[in-house]
Amino acid sequence: MKSIVQQINELKKEKRAVILAHYYQIPEIQDIADYVGDSLGLSQQAAQTDAEVIMFAGVHFMAETAKILSPQKKVILPDLEAGCSLADGCPPDRFEAFLKHYPDHTVISYVNCSAAIKTMSDIIVTSGNAVQVVESFPKDQKIVFAPDKNLGGYINRLTGRDMVLWDGSCEVHDILSTEAVIRMKTANPQARLIAHPECKAQLLALADFIGSTTALLQFARTDTAQQYIVATESGILHKMQQESPGKQFFVVPSDETCSCNDCPYMKMNTLEKLYTALRDEQPEIVLAPEVIEKARLPIQRMLDISYSLGLIKKQ
Ligand code: 13P
Ligand code: SF4
Repeated sequence: MKSIVQQINELKKEKRAVILAHYYQIPEIQDIADYVGDSLGLSQQAAQTDAEVIMFAGVHFMAETAKILSPQKKVILPDLEAGCSLADGCPPDRFEAFLKHYPDHTVISYVNCSAAIKTMSDIIVTSGNAVQVVESFPKDQKIVFAPDKNLGGYINRLTGRDMVLWDGSCEVHDILSTEAVIRMKTANPQARLIAHPECKAQLLALADFIGSTTALLQFARTDTAQQYIVATESGILHKMQQESPGKQFFVVPSDETCSCNDCPYMKMNTLEKLYTALRDEQPEIVLAPEVIEKARLPIQRMLDISYSLGLIKKQ
């Protein structure tokens, strides 16, 4: 009897599919993926792949972005319900009404938003390029930043800007406990705090390093400390431990009764769902051609600027 991993690998070959996975996926999915990365790296892979089918082991907005960048490919998400509180907290009708108050503003949207929001945006950013993209606009440029007020606030503080922020947050990062961080730092004074910019300001103020999931991994790999307090989703520990086997990593618990920090949407994907989705080539991401056309422009601008700033390299 073949293992599920063998069966997925066979299907992948047969269908000329590529498996793209985010660092928050369960270890078994990360291990079977052709590429594991952050939102920026995943967008780049989606735009470049010559596979016929993209199996996206991540959440809905990521698979939508892949479809927008590779409209001729079939993009499959193992569970269509795998959403994101940031994307879901910024409905297009409310955002359209919000933008009417800021007609002379440039609209910069975090990639964690729906395709409809992307069609209303001038440029998209990820946590891997947001600061540099904002800095590429003149200092006096008026900007609306959506949908993450934590990432937007972090950029405002870092760059001295005053971007108008949409009031959204990530339900996982926003509740990571600053009190727990202080307790953990006291118990492990040598440990460095590394945090994702979706965390709230009080926690970020304590951090030794702030960055995208890829940047956090790179920091942990190259930095000299031996212990790290990690303020992001727990899935990242799999790669961190693989890449830095001698180091110790402690995840930050949330304020709520649950002391875990799993993204409930990322964790909807399982090997079994991946197998059936690949076998049946569904659930498929389907977008109207006019949405693809309009949403592609601000994403392509993001990729172009990321190449020109050297944030990603042509492959
Ligand atoms: P990264 O692009 O840094 O991987 O972040 C994606 C995300 O959803 C964080 O919660
Ligand atoms: Fe969205 Fe937060 Fe989950 Fe990332 S961790 S996909 S921002 S809900």
